[in-house]
Amino acid sequence: MRERNTFGIDATAYRLLEYYIVEELQAFIRQRRENGDTTPLLHIGGGSNLLFLGDFEGTVLHSGIRHIEVTAEEGDSVYVRVGAGVIWDEWVQYAIDSSWYGLENLSLIPGEVGASAVQNIGAYGAEAKDLILFVDTVDLRTGEVRHFTAEECRYGYRDSIFKRELRGRYAVTHVHFRLSHNFQPRLDYGNIRHALQTRGIEECDLTPQALRQVIIEIRRSKLPEPSEMGNAGSFFTNPIVPRADYERIAALHPDAPHYDVDADRVKIPAGWMIEQCGWKGRSLGRAGVYEKQALVLVNRGGATGQEVAALCHAIQHDVQERFGIRITPEVNFIG
Ligand code: EPU
Repeated sequence: MRERNTFGIDATAYRLLEYYIVEELQAFIRQRRENGDTTPLLHIGGGSNLLFLGDFEGTVLHSGIRHIEVTAEEGDSVYVRVGAGVIWDEWVQYAIDSSWYGLENLSLIPGEVGASAVQNIGAYGAEAKDLILFVDTVDLRTGEVRHFTAEECRYGYRDSIFKRELRGRYAVTHVHFRLSHNFQPRLDYGNIRHALQTRGIEECDLTPQALRQVIIEIRRSKLPEPSEMGNAGSFFTNPIVPRADYERIAALHPDAPHYDVDADRVKIPAGWMIEQCGWKGRSLGRAGVYEKQALVLVNRGGATGQEVAALCHAIQHDVQERFGIRITPEVNFIG
């Protein structure tokens, strides 16, 4: 599995099945049922959110469904059905090339389209859920096709029903997006406007491709390339805490970054807390905390999943001790 997880962890699986049409996946499930096979299944995408703690004694499934098709157009809107196996960033580029807008801020996110609908990927003020209309899946127990509306997916911050009640139960085969022919740039997050200014780009002249390019440059300046240094992007989610917890922290750190979620809850960047604990740039064994973004754990070369997990636990412990807040991994631990 080393080539199939962006952490570059050396692990094996009993079997890897890549399917190219829905019926192929259904035939596999039917046969499994007939054989009474109850060995574990693991459905992966681009492997950018996985940590193998050891070998996987079951079947790894991967979608090779890569069609992109327009299903309807209506006013400014275009409805597009995209195969789960399409590489996310290729989809973003394809959409921009087709003059379908809305995905620009999600440029260069690693992974594949299927996972975007499970994970509700997000960056720079945009989230996949804002563009997803519904999701086609196959029930991994019965082989039946089931469609979920975006509402039924119960999207939240990096969250959906597929990560909770229905975890491991359905394979996403296609995602239906609604994009727009009308380019409406979202520039409010953090440093996007500043990045435009430093490049001498006026907001009124901004093209979708230029916005994509700026997002790509911002990401590249902060996040390591998995091909150069194994990593899984943000290792932890940013905790959403009761306002009283934030106020306790702000009394000691008036400059603590934070985002209001609602009247009662505040999101605090885990990367900031990890940096405050002195972990940025440090290592434990062959696993480390990235120098430029403390939310990212990296494989410094030959790390095992256990080493990364040990680093994760040490960081969680220190953040808990210092801030009284539990941070939880976004990455899925396998095994
Ligand atoms: N910060 C620090 N030190 C650090 C890292 C961050 O002080 O080492 C502070 C920053 O100064 C800033 C705040 O934390 O005030 C937020 O930092 P940043 O904008 O870099 O974003 P993030 O909250 O750390 C989230 C996503 C990223 C996404 C960025 C940009 C999560 C778990 N992560 O990170 O997603 O690219 O926002 O939108 O929500 C990913 O999921 O793999 C990922 C990279």
